[in-house]
Amino acid sequence: MGVRDFLKRRFLPEGRSSGADAGALPTEPDADGFRAVGRSTQIRPGRSGTFQVGGEAVALFRAEGGLYAIGNACAHEDGPLGEGSLSGCFVTCPYHDWRFDVRTGACITDPSRAVASYAVKEADGILWVGKKLREGTEDRGGEHNDGLSAR
Ligand code: FES
Repeated sequence: MGVRDFLKRRFLPEGRSSGADAGALPTEPDADGFRAVGRSTQIRPGRSGTFQVGGEAVALFRAEGGLYAIGNACAHEDGPLGEGSLSGCFVTCPYHDWRFDVRTGACITDPSRAVASYAVKEADGILWVGKKLREGTEDRGGEHNDGLSAR
């Protein structure tokens, strides 16, 4: 491996592809309706990535041995959950610390504010996102959970 390849692998942001080592992903859905969104190597254990799926931003998490997919937009003020901090199967939004269960999209901070969850699988080194399993709330707003005032 040359220096350039080493640097690409070392410093490539999570959830991004260099293009050079990714190759072309299938562009059509598979027989079960799953769409290819990226390579398995793009999400290491305990990490996440964000992908566009049919016009929606979906956050994928490799948590506690499983792969999970939820809507990327936080139900508080649309913060990027795919950039949140993951602890076990729970992600904390990077904006104001609302917490979500990545297995289901359930919101721990406000149980009425779940985000969408999606079927997800890996096959042949590819990440695939399928149908929406749960609709997410359209509601937004509410108190911060980081000790700062919402006003
Ligand atoms: S936008 Fe996620 S906690 Fe505020």
